[in-house]
Amino acid sequence: MEKIPENIQENPSVLNEEVDFSFDELFFSRTNESGIILSGNSVFQRISNYAWNEILSKPHKLIRHNDMPRAVFWLLWETIKNGQPIGAYVKNRAKDGRYYWVFAIVTPVEGGFLSVRLKPSSALFEAAKGEYAALRAMEINDNLKPAEGAAILLSRLQELGFRDYAAFMSAAISQEMVARDIQTDRQEDNCIACFNRLVSSAQCLQDHATKIFSAYEGNAYVPLNMTIQASHLGNFGAPMCVISSNYTSISEEIQENLKCFLESGTKVARVIDEGLFLLATSRIQREVFDHFQQDTPNDGASRDQEMEFLDQQQQSYSEKAAQGLDAISLQIRQFQQACLAMRKLTSILEVTRVMGKIESASLDASRTSLNDLIDDLGSFQKAILDGLKEIDESNKAIRFDIEQLLKAS
Ligand SMILES: Cc1cc2nc3c(=O)[nH]c(=O)nc-3n(C[C@H](O)[C@H](O)[C@H](O)COP(=O)(O)O)c2cc1C
Repeated sequence: MEKIPENIQENPSVLNEEVDFSFDELFFSRTNESGIILSGNSVFQRISNYAWNEILSKPHKLIRHNDMPRAVFWLLWETIKNGQPIGAYVKNRAKDGRYYWVFAIVTPVEGGFLSVRLKPSSALFEAAKGEYAALRAMEINDNLKPAEGAAILLSRLQELGFRDYAAFMSAAISQEMVARDIQTDRQEDNCIACFNRLVSSAQCLQDHATKIFSAYEGNAYVPLNMTIQASHLGNFGAPMCVISSNYTSISEEIQENLKCFLESGTKVARVIDEGLFLLATSRIQREVFDHFQQDTPNDGASRDQEMEFLDQQQQSYSEKAAQGLDAISLQIRQFQQACLAMRKLTSILEVTRVMGKIESASLDASRTSLNDLIDDLGSFQKAILDGLKEIDESNKAIRFDIEQLLKAS
């Protein structure tokens, strides 16, 4: 790997100054597999303030800013070396020491990687700046290894409500695209808006699935207590013992089904996040391609070759985005099957509850707390039905937005 040139002309008086550039401007750079810069566009060259001959064939860390947590680059390389795309906020350092922020999307291309970057301005970006500063301070003070820093970053993202890094980067790119449309007085991108609604519906769906799970856990004591109470009634309690043992087996089935149900809900959210990230990536890549047609090629670079790289990459991500929609449709169908299974189990639960109610009425149930237990069963059943009703609404909304996206694609 080549060394960074020694002639970096940092100007101490401008170290805290930001390089200004407009929201319309998009950067791109392409590297080989070791991160050596092979080409880029004029925005990248101008904002970094280096001459082309100082950038080309140099490692990308040439523009690394010391405020950047190492953990972010560690995650970046782990992901792209694995053949996956990644999006990240990056603070860069221009040649004179000034800084500039970008949201970068790095994707594997033939022979290396391509990074397209936009100027961030969302509320999430403001939050990310604070998180980066805290993480960098920890890295320095506690002498953290990059992988340790990455683990801290991931757990912090979970605290902030993101399931994982993929959920964070998809929220970040969509918020940045919405914010950028506002900054540039552009009409809202309908597909991104549609995807953002999908993200909210998937969140609703998961919230209700989790509520049903909590209701199950909150009532887990009922079957055992019913059996105990029925046994106090001696021979009179025999039918009740049968009812409670039926309930125990349905309850076990519900527990099994709930696990699949929750997993299926999470998969819906995951494929929606992936689809959103792929669509946003292909949109930005398309814009970079369009801008590059009017760009001045860098020293010695072949515009045709670069255009081909950009075009192929954009087409590939646009295809991936279309496949993403199919994946969401498939996942939502599977989730609906899980909902159907839950409904069936709830009907069986209702039969058990009614039988229990009739039986307890014929017993001297006031001597026991059987009535209360049967009422608890009723509340549990209601919680499932209420949750499933809300989930149905989210399912409908998801199917509607998927149809809109399929029409638009
Ligand atoms: C396509 C691509 C684009 C990159 N863009 C940047 C960038 O804009 N700024 C940056 O500091 N590092 C960027 N990197 C990461 C650098 O290669 C490097 O990992 C990082 O600067 C940290 O340096 P270090 O790995 O030596 O700690 C990029 C890497 C790739 C593959």
